[in-house]
Amino acid sequence: MMETRTNPPVLEASGIVRDYPGAGGLFRRARPVRALKGISFAVEQGRTLAVVGESGCGKSTLARIITLIDPATEGTLRIDGQPVDIARETLSREMRRKVQIVFQNPYGSLNPRQKVGDMLMEPLILNTADSAAERREKAMAMLVKVGLGTEHFHRYPHMFSGGQRQRLAIARALMVNPRLLVLDEPVSALDLSVQAQVLNLLADLQEEFDLTYVFISHDLSVVRYIADEVMVMWLGEVVEYGSRDALFGDPQHDYTRTLFAATPVTDLAAIRARIARRRAAGIGTAGIGA
Ligand SMILES: Nc1ncnc2c1ncn2[C@@H]1O[C@H](COP(=O)(O)OP(=O)(O)OP(=O)(O)O)[C@@H](O)[C@H]1O
Ligand SMILES: [Mg+2]
Repeated sequence: MMETRTNPPVLEASGIVRDYPGAGGLFRRARPVRALKGISFAVEQGRTLAVVGESGCGKSTLARIITLIDPATEGTLRIDGQPVDIARETLSREMRRKVQIVFQNPYGSLNPRQKVGDMLMEPLILNTADSAAERREKAMAMLVKVGLGTEHFHRYPHMFSGGQRQRLAIARALMVNPRLLVLDEPVSALDLSVQAQVLNLLADLQEEFDLTYVFISHDLSVVRYIADEVMVMWLGEVVEYGSRDALFGDPQHDYTRTLFAATPVTDLAAIRARIARRRAAGIGTAGIGA
C-alpha cells in the first residue's frame, strides 16, 4: 500500500545499548548483562509502534530508557528532533514532560493515599503556571475525557476497578500534554472486555491529541489491533521491524514465525466485535469539552 509520509519522527533511537551489572561469583568477575544490544527505530507523530517479544527480551528496559527513567549505556535518543543526554545529567523538565509512561499494574502504579484529583493536579504544579482553579478545571475535564466522571475527583484509587485505574493512569500521563506515551503492557492485567474498552479509549485519545505511542505487549491480538508498525525483539536485539500488515501477513524471521505460531490470535475477533458494538452504540470520548 502506498502511503505518503509527511510526519516528522517524535522519537528516534539509534544503537541503544543497556548493560546491567552482573552478579559475579567467587572465582569470576562480575560481567555485565547486556539487556539491549544496539536497538534502532523511529516513531512518527500520531503513530503506534508495538514492541513485542518474549519475557526477558528487554522490552521494559527499553521503555525505561525512552521515558528517561533509566539511562542507556550507549546510543542516541532524539525526542522531537532534539538529542537527549543519554547520561541524563542536564535533562530539562520540558524534555521529561514530553514523554510519559503507563505501566501494566494499575494497582501498584497509583499512590493509595493520594486522592484522584490531587494525583492529576500534581504534575501541573511542577510543569505549568496554572492557578489552583485552572488545575482543578483541567483535572475535572481529563476525568471526563478518559471516560470517568467529575464525581471521582475526591476518591482514592482503591475505590476503582482495574480498568478504571488504568484510565486514571492514562489521565495522569496526559495531564502535561505529552508528545509520546509509552505503554508497557497497559491492558495485560485486565479482563478481555475491559481490555477492549481501554484499547478503544487509547485509540480515541491518540486521534484527538495526535499522540504517538510506543505500545509494549506480548499479546499479538492486541498488537494487531493497535499497531501501525511492529518491532519484534529477541534477547535484546531487534529481529524484525516493519508495518503491521507486512509482519502479520508475511513474517520473515524464524523467531517471529515461532512467536506468531505459539500465540493464538483468536481473541482479536472478540475485541474487534466489542469495539464495533461500542462504536455503534455511540459511546466514545470525542465531543466532550476540553
Ligand atoms: N534492574 C536490573 N538488574 C539486572 N538485570 C536486569 C534488571 N532489569 C532487567 N534485567 C535483565 O534484563 C533483561 C531484560 O529485562 P526486561 O525486564 O527489560 O524484559 P521484558 O522484555 O520487559 O520482560 P517481561 O515480558 O517479562 O516484562 C532480563 O534478562 C532481565 O533479567
Ligand atoms: Mg517487562
